[in-house]
Amino acid sequence: MRKVRVGIVGLGAWGWNVGRSFHELADCDLVACCDLSESRRAAAELNWPGVKAYRTVDEMFAKSNIEAVVISSPAVTHYVLVQKALLAGYDVFVEKPFTLNVENAEALLNLSEERSRVLMVGHLLEYHPVVEELRRMIQSGELGDIYYVYTQRVNLGRIRGDENALWSFAPHDISQIIYMLGIEPVDVSARGQSFIQQGIEDVVFLSLFFDNRIMAHIHLSWLDPHKTRTTTIVGSKRMAVFDDMATTEKLRVYDSCAMPHHPNSFGEAIQVRFGDIHIPRVPNAEPLKLECQHFLNCVATRTTPRSDAADGLRVVKILDAAQSSLEQDGNPVSLRGSDDYISTSQRASRCWTALRA
Ligand SMILES: NC(=O)c1ccc[n+]([C@@H]2O[C@H](COP(=O)([O-])OP(=O)(O)OC[C@H]3O[C@@H](n4cnc5c(N)ncnc54)[C@H](O)[C@@H]3O)[C@@H](O)[C@H]2O)c1
Repeated sequence: MRKVRVGIVGLGAWGWNVGRSFHELADCDLVACCDLSESRRAAAELNWPGVKAYRTVDEMFAKSNIEAVVISSPAVTHYVLVQKALLAGYDVFVEKPFTLNVENAEALLNLSEERSRVLMVGHLLEYHPVVEELRRMIQSGELGDIYYVYTQRVNLGRIRGDENALWSFAPHDISQIIYMLGIEPVDVSARGQSFIQQGIEDVVFLSLFFDNRIMAHIHLSWLDPHKTRTTTIVGSKRMAVFDDMATTEKLRVYDSCAMPHHPNSFGEAIQVRFGDIHIPRVPNAEPLKLECQHFLNCVATRTTPRSDAADGLRVVKILDAAQSSLEQDGNPVSLRGSDDYISTSQRASRCWTALRA
């Protein structure tokens, strides 16, 4: 494959990892970078010989011969910078969250189509080998009917001032869940609290409801003693647990054998497991490298990325509905866009009321 000439915008805590990945890939010619901070520019030129650092994107666009732009600056800058890059004729990879509102996401999707440009959103987990394996297991029916999914993305971490834990973390979980299940939620409900900064939720509990009764629950926080990154999928045949903090054996698959109703012995009564646990062998490739390589392939071959602008828009719509629910203290918000729609949880609650009557 030919080398793609790339420029990266934003060399902060995460942007640096993204820059390093592109710099190390054989199919990439990282020729330029850009950051408002002088020290970040100096570090880039020192660590990546041959890469020219600029202060602004305008300067980088005017003076370098790049063909693709990677945007890893803060979320509030995404819309303006992606728009500028597309208008200047570049293919674009933008970090999550794609944008901070639905209108901006729609505008960028339309612009990329009008200009025939590749526009990819950094939904990293869609490139994780374990998520690939989970998607395969779900789609092939190996786990049986899916009952519910839950994820935890918590740590004692960086407290952001320009976005809450929902917009900062949930793009990963939402994109992962809809990628694995292959379906979109019909409504969402979210509750959270702001403890450190007024109006910026540090902890959020988000629930997604799907048409076929599947539920997903996402726990997000940057105020937690543990760094936890887990996904649990419960199906009628098997259950899978993905622990991304584990250095090896990230995926375990449990047979879904229910405990007998009438145990034959004390031992059987206290037994917590009745089926086998399987640890599938999953390639140990770095998801960020796979994601960056995917972008290079799409640029070189003019193909649509897996996490394209439409995927970005889907996730932003769900985040936007979740934000609206958060502001209404957890009221379910429909994603169907129809006034007469009764949400899944409202239907369930009506059913429950009828049963009790
Ligand atoms: N995929 C992931 O797992 C993951 C993880 C963390 C962060 N992110 C995302 O990556 C992006 C960057 O996060 P971060 O943690 O590196 O942020 P950061 O605040 O650490 O760094 C941002 C950098 O961008 C620079 N910058 C800001 N505005 C700029 C502009 N207009 N032009 C040029 N440079 C500019 C700043 O000087 C700073 O160096 C965010 O969108 C964030 O949500 C993704």
